[in-house]
Amino acid sequence: MCGIVGYVGERQACPVIIKGLHRLEYRGYDSAGVALVTPDGGLNLYKCKGKVSDLERFLDGKQPTGTIGIGHTRWATHGEPNDVNAHPHFSASGNIALIHNGIIENFRVLKDALVQHGFTFRSSTDSEVLVNLIEYIRDTNGCTLEEAVRMALKQVVGAYAIAVIERGNTSQIIAAKQSSPMAIGIGKGEFFLSSDAASIIDYTQDFVYLGDGEVAVINKNKPLRIMNLGGKESPVDIQKLELSISQLEKGGYPHFMLKEIHEQPDTLVDCIRGRVNPDTREIILSGVLDHREKFLGAGRIIFVACGTSWHASLIGEHLIESMCRIPVEVEYASEFRYRNPIIRKDDVVIAVSQSGETADTLAAVEMARSAGAFVYGICNVVGSSIARATHSGTYIHVGPEIGVASTKAFTGQVTVMAMLALVIGRLKGTLGEDKYHEVAGALLELPQTMKEVLKTADQVADLAKIFTYAHNFIYLGRGYNYPTALEGALKLKEISYIHAEGLPAAEMKHGPIALIDAEMPTVAIATQDHTYEKTLSNIEEIKARGGKIIAIVSKGDRLARRCADYCIEVPVTAECLMPVISSVPLQLLAYYIATYKGRSVDQPRNLAKSVTVE
Ligand code: F6R
Repeated sequence: MCGIVGYVGERQACPVIIKGLHRLEYRGYDSAGVALVTPDGGLNLYKCKGKVSDLERFLDGKQPTGTIGIGHTRWATHGEPNDVNAHPHFSASGNIALIHNGIIENFRVLKDALVQHGFTFRSSTDSEVLVNLIEYIRDTNGCTLEEAVRMALKQVVGAYAIAVIERGNTSQIIAAKQSSPMAIGIGKGEFFLSSDAASIIDYTQDFVYLGDGEVAVINKNKPLRIMNLGGKESPVDIQKLELSISQLEKGGYPHFMLKEIHEQPDTLVDCIRGRVNPDTREIILSGVLDHREKFLGAGRIIFVACGTSWHASLIGEHLIESMCRIPVEVEYASEFRYRNPIIRKDDVVIAVSQSGETADTLAAVEMARSAGAFVYGICNVVGSSIARATHSGTYIHVGPEIGVASTKAFTGQVTVMAMLALVIGRLKGTLGEDKYHEVAGALLELPQTMKEVLKTADQVADLAKIFTYAHNFIYLGRGYNYPTALEGALKLKEISYIHAEGLPAAEMKHGPIALIDAEMPTVAIATQDHTYEKTLSNIEEIKARGGKIIAIVSKGDRLARRCADYCIEVPVTAECLMPVISSVPLQLLAYYIATYKGRSVDQPRNLAKSVTVE
């Protein structure tokens, strides 16, 4: 979604900001802009609808100078994507420029009051209301920009990450955040600002992550100051971000998504490394072990997540219920937070989020915490809001995921959930030693198994050619592979724009089988698990009605071949880890169909990588 980049120092700000905005492109956006304070104190604004490359063309020949500036990529919420609604926004006098991520929920009330005071508005955004509120407060109180920002934010209801600069001030940016991420990069005599620290990793690895309700006064000539809305200062906590620039580039692949699919053997190594002892198969997950009494005493575990992370959570439910015998519920965070759910003190709430910034999941975490539950996070982005808002957690450590369609994060999430279930199941005594060693052994082999399954890529690419014509798809699975079917369908929908539905295979008879004809291909996950024969019967029923079937089967399978039109053989692993492997041909199928259809694979229409507004 929206992205923020800022700079103040001795360099020309515009190229730094544009580079950062390019790095944020994967998050999804529809317009971009930059505001700069010129060396003589002028405040200039450049913005347009479209991509960062459109903004660069727009800037061409305009010589945007200034060593301080703020830039933005906007994903429209209030007001259509156009030049006027693009950020930054000027205050009415043109003396203050602001960029904003998030939604100001009470903007109508604030706007009406400003109109009464004679303000007029150019755009239909909530953000322009905020910059004018800041100006109104500053002018009526005769206070500094910093004070005006703090006073204005006290009146704001909603989520925001903002950066503000003013005419005549060549050294200072004011930034603030509430429920939307903001990181300040520390350089030598210079500061960087971003909604995603990774976007400015070219310049620094030292970051300060703003907390909710905090304001930063970033002045290139002075030490960084962090304070709350009341002006009370707090210590500045600088953290190192271990990330290499190569992790943010395509590394020779045509798309980030394909790179990330093929990275999975390595990302699984990173996810498992230091956690599963290869000799003893002992699993050390400190985020769990340090709070073992919470997990062992849990009356219930509730997963809260969205999208792909929600699908991974469904697999977590199977893993935990079967190995730990703790009742599990899996909730869409967006539903959970508005349902007035029953949350007990002995509940453990597990928030699953690749980005760690999904607004609904973050709100669900806060709700669970305030209800007294223990909250554990499974996140990828280190230092993200959800990682910080939870009591404890485990990072999946799969590196930056830039393709909008989640791939390596899904397999990392399931892998962490398997480790968690093994640890708790063993401690609780609900999991036999044999089973523990079997699954822990399979976990250790998972990176190698992943390498094997990636060898299906060419075969899947050929199949994709055959099925690119389809307008609809059904994905079927049972048991551990039912969530995999949901995930396969989601991958296809989001990047190829083909309608796809994931279903438990046995549900077909209860209605969806009416959809089956020669034009409705079915992808059936029929690997050899305890529901294998039953899944084959479900495939037969589709075959009998003229449906075309692509089956994902275990290596060496003979039976599925008799009823499926096409089979993709995948290597065998422990049944509970099968989704990590069987999801891969589905990721590839979606990828190749989307590329054959000429879709924008890494930045599909209407989608954002990190959904920071609800
Ligand atoms: C799908 C996808 C989304 C995300 C969802 C949650 O490929 O990426 O469905 O899974 O928006 O995002 P996180 O995991 O960042 O909370």
